[in-house]
Amino acid sequence: MRVFVTGGAGFIGSHTLVQLLRQNAEVTAFDNYSNSSPVALARVKRLAQSDLSSVEGDICNRAALETAMRAAKPDAVIHFAGLKAVGESSEKPLSYYKNNIAGSIALLETMDAVGCRNIVFSSSATVYDPAKAAPFTEEDPLGAVNPYGRTKQFIEEIIRDWAAANSDASAAILRYFNPVGAHVSGDIGEDPVGIPNNLMPFIARVAAGSLPRLQVFGGDYPTSDGTGARDYIHVEDLASAHLAALKYAATVKGCDVFNIGTGRSTTVLEMLHAFEQACGKAIAYRITERRAGDVASSVADVSKAKRILGWQAKYDVADMCQSSWNWQSRNPKGYDNGQ
Ligand code: NAD
Ligand code: UFG
Repeated sequence: MRVFVTGGAGFIGSHTLVQLLRQNAEVTAFDNYSNSSPVALARVKRLAQSDLSSVEGDICNRAALETAMRAAKPDAVIHFAGLKAVGESSEKPLSYYKNNIAGSIALLETMDAVGCRNIVFSSSATVYDPAKAAPFTEEDPLGAVNPYGRTKQFIEEIIRDWAAANSDASAAILRYFNPVGAHVSGDIGEDPVGIPNNLMPFIARVAAGSLPRLQVFGGDYPTSDGTGARDYIHVEDLASAHLAALKYAATVKGCDVFNIGTGRSTTVLEMLHAFEQACGKAIAYRITERRAGDVASSVADVSKAKRILGWQAKYDVADMCQSSWNWQSRNPKGYDNGQ
């Protein structure tokens, strides 16, 4: 199978590439490296002991996309490329709408031009209306509360309309919950620029001594210990969900949407203590004010993915922390260490 992967050098993309290559897929990674490094692709090739094609380009550039896709002749596209920082999306909403939405439209137009009708799209749990109590099922009302989340919600609708207009089209929309962890080798992982916004990379840097302490955003939520609860999913499980979705999209026409999580809830303090076990050190923290826009709890109902895709998560929070710490301690400067 030939697969065209936008955003393939990123955190989730790179882990998915390794699994695709190990299944003998022919892969083209298309990325502008705005939030990633070509070093990740070199490591993917080494890990998979297999080659891939990589094209540096922007999904908003229709001509560049078409040249790359005509050369790749893909059977399917996995569409990871996008900007993803929630806070930044409120400061620069037009950049988010342009990059994520205009880029996705250019991608679908190019797929039409080259006759590729299968897509797997990276959506997010952030599309759900936070007024609904977790766990979320795919039928729950949507109501993203920031520009980033709205780009995901709008792209979902665009893909649904595209699939409805093309009887031979297949689209699998995956709503990821909280992706964390790293490849077991410690060779690829999450490499955020600057101070991390997300919990797991922040904890990892406190453990490594490059940040002084974790600020726990809120200790008075209606959860088991008062701190925010999430459904963390190991990036290796998330990668395998894409392979299951590709298989599905190869045989079933139309558009469908799937939650991708574990269905289990972990609080901030539970995650912190699990990380302490993994790294063998105490992690300093202080409970502070709630972070604006956060919900108390976000957990997936994962029964649909199991029923229809035949996929379910294998890894637990201990695996997530262990692999994240392995990546962090072997790569204190992320991909800046080079090959
Ligand atoms: P990431 O930033 O590591 O990967 C995204 C990749 O897309 C990067 O390599 C970046 O350089 C590339 N990219 C961005 N804009 C591009 C453009 N215009 N043209 C070409 N390449 C472009 O992020 P990730 O965590 O791997 O996320 C992958 C996808 O999953 C994103 O769409 C993200 O919104 C979505 N998602 C992520 C999370 C999460 O917490 N990590 C949760 C839900 C959904
Ligand atoms: N948290 C802290 N301190 C930190 C960072 C986070 O206490 O320094 C807490 C948050 O308040 C929250 C939990 O840790 O309770 C998880 O926060 P993250 O920032 O790691 O993740 P979010 O659930 O806020 O959001 C993430 C992605 C979004 C995505 C969403 C659902 O950042 O892009 O998961 O997939 F949409």
